[in-house]
Amino acid sequence: MTRSPDDQMALVAFMQAGSTSVYAGSWRHPAADLRFLDASYYAELGRLLELGCFDLMFFDDRLAMPGIYGDSVAEAVRYGARPIKLDLSTVLGVLTGATSRIGLGATYSTTYYTPYHVARTFATLDQLSRGRGAWNVVTSVNDSEAQNFGVSSHLGPAERYDRADEFLEAVTGLWDSWEDDALILDRESGLFADPSKVHQLDYHSAHFDVRGPLTVPRSPQGRPVILQAGSSGRGRDFASRWAELIFTGDPGIDVARSHYSDQKARIAESGRDPNSVKICPMAYIVVGESASQAQEREQMFLNDLVHPMASLTLLSELMNYDFAAHDLDDIVTDELISSTTGIRGLVENLRTHIGGTVRIRDLAGHRATLLQGPRFVGTATQVADQMEEWFTTGACDGFVLAATHFPGAFEDVVRMVIPELQRRGVFRKQYTGATLRDHLGLAKPEYVTPARGDARV
Ligand SMILES: Cc1cc2nc3c(=O)[nH]c(=O)nc-3n(C[C@H](O)[C@H](O)[C@H](O)COP(=O)(O)O)c2cc1C
Repeated sequence: MTRSPDDQMALVAFMQAGSTSVYAGSWRHPAADLRFLDASYYAELGRLLELGCFDLMFFDDRLAMPGIYGDSVAEAVRYGARPIKLDLSTVLGVLTGATSRIGLGATYSTTYYTPYHVARTFATLDQLSRGRGAWNVVTSVNDSEAQNFGVSSHLGPAERYDRADEFLEAVTGLWDSWEDDALILDRESGLFADPSKVHQLDYHSAHFDVRGPLTVPRSPQGRPVILQAGSSGRGRDFASRWAELIFTGDPGIDVARSHYSDQKARIAESGRDPNSVKICPMAYIVVGESASQAQEREQMFLNDLVHPMASLTLLSELMNYDFAAHDLDDIVTDELISSTTGIRGLVENLRTHIGGTVRIRDLAGHRATLLQGPRFVGTATQVADQMEEWFTTGACDGFVLAATHFPGAFEDVVRMVIPELQRRGVFRKQYTGATLRDHLGLAKPEYVTPARGDARV
């Protein structure tokens, strides 16, 4: 793969609206800001990331407190293993006012929400932020979430993605229920909008019946940007059909390269231009004034901040599997992995990282989410070398940067790493466009009159 000298990497901040970053020990870091229940905390983080010219800050979400380990939320609460998750539409409302350029993304589930609700939330975000909205489409992960929505267990992967396909058909139809120039606002004649340009949807499928039209006019980006992170075959096919920015969680550069080329091939097979979709692996950056300072910092994250029980609590949640049913000395066998129903690739990755015979005790000791993606550790030059290698050798189009703690991890990236990437010409020095699509080089989708009638399958 060759890149033109003008190619720029996309940088996305992996955000959490709650008590920890994706790294469960983040709240214990001596410099962690613990005002996560305060609007100004999110506003300050948004302004910091905008200073660094990030393309997008995107918030992950889970619709339940971790409660699978030992069939109880006690460990999640005791150790702070992500027991707090705020409502994202409110958090993004704060950020819409506090920032002016950076893209704003949130995770909403196609399994537990409904298309009209989600279409309206993101059309509103895109309107109020003047074209900076993005939706991270997830099918959700586990039974804890199902049980908050009146369902005893999480749907299997095939049914989740069938429902998600229909969900996207309905949502994109609703986003296109107003033509771009439907609003007239002529006080003199009294004509508010052109009824011939506002369309009822009448979408019907196996899971949904949606009449429409949406009560929000077509938004500045035409449609908010679609983010997605499926990693299974079905998840990758779903991304090929719908996503415009894909997140991956691969542990090393070789796996990332083969994931990248597989995903781009699937996008081409689905009839879309692979260059119109960006692929961004999740990565942690641990940067220091010297290599040894960075390594010392990394050791603190690996060894000191996460309680092993918090690791197992989170793993149980992500794998939809109760690890409390095992002795710490039990071996993690293929059979054990195949009886989990969550993000299976995660434990596979951990096994590869750890090597040899892996026991439950090793999983507990390995700080779960720190190993979900690569860690770029070193001085700013060393970190930028690693990022540039991934970017220029077919492993990615940019990164979704996870924080070891807030706001320090992003302060370090903005102060040390971004200037180095800018000096090398692989990252923007300033925003040149107004919308998230401008930042990512994505075209505004053509308006398509929604097909009326029965799409029931
Ligand atoms: C960077 C990244 C962020 C993710 N964020 C979420 C999230 O906020 N909520 C969620 O339910 N799943 C999230 N996931 C999980 C994916 O949506 C997906 O379930 C997972 O990669 C497994 O893929 P599959 O559905 O194809 O099996 C994320 C994955 C990655 C790599």
